[in-house]
Amino acid sequence: ISFRYVLNNDDPQNLIYLVGLKNIFSKQLPNMPKEYIVRLVFDRRHRSVALLKRNGAVIGGITYRAFHQQAFGEIAFCAVTSHEQVKGYGTRLMNQTKEFARTLDRLTHFLTYADNNAVGYFEKQGFTKEVTLEWERWQGYIKDYDGGTLMECVMHPRICFTA
Ligand code: ACO
Repeated sequence: ISFRYVLNNDDPQNLIYLVGLKNIFSKQLPNMPKEYIVRLVFDRRHRSVALLKRNGAVIGGITYRAFHQQAFGEIAFCAVTSHEQVKGYGTRLMNQTKEFARTLDRLTHFLTYADNNAVGYFEKQGFTKEVTLEWERWQGYIKDYDGGTLMECVMHPRICFTA
């Protein structure tokens, strides 16, 4: 298992990873319109963390938009392919994503609209339903969406999440 921080930056290998992620998100998030997934995964303001098997196949990932000025990120999609779920990969994926976001994007918070059936997963990853980030720092940046529960995770600038 390994992780890659992936940007849509014209690198052909990155495009292969992004296609793999798009396919997993489309299958695991059936309520999300496919065009919306494609648009965000390939958007240049979004970053993705791809979870790879030893043979290089993408088996999961997280896509988030980094608002660098505001120092927070919005997780748009998070999924692990069905036959690899409940093996602990989802936890490792989130820890690695926090670490990339903390060190490469200098983010201090993640926000996400969690699907109701994924609230338990996000709670186990340190997310809370209480949002402590000042309203002025995020309102207007992420759009309200009633299909889920807004959740927050605070990332201390000096805490390593993968140690
Ligand atoms: N509800 C409650 N708890 C859960 C859920 C869930 N849906 N999924 C996993 N957990 C728990 C596990 O039991 C485990 O608990 P433990 O540490 O006490 O054993 C912990 O969360 C982590 O489990 P992992 O094995 O690390 O997680 P997994 O590899 O299965 O990945 C994920 C979790 C990403 C939610 C996966 O199940 C998945 O892809 N689901 C379908 C897609 C989905 O719902 N994604 C989130 C949508 S919301 C969004 O994308 C913003």
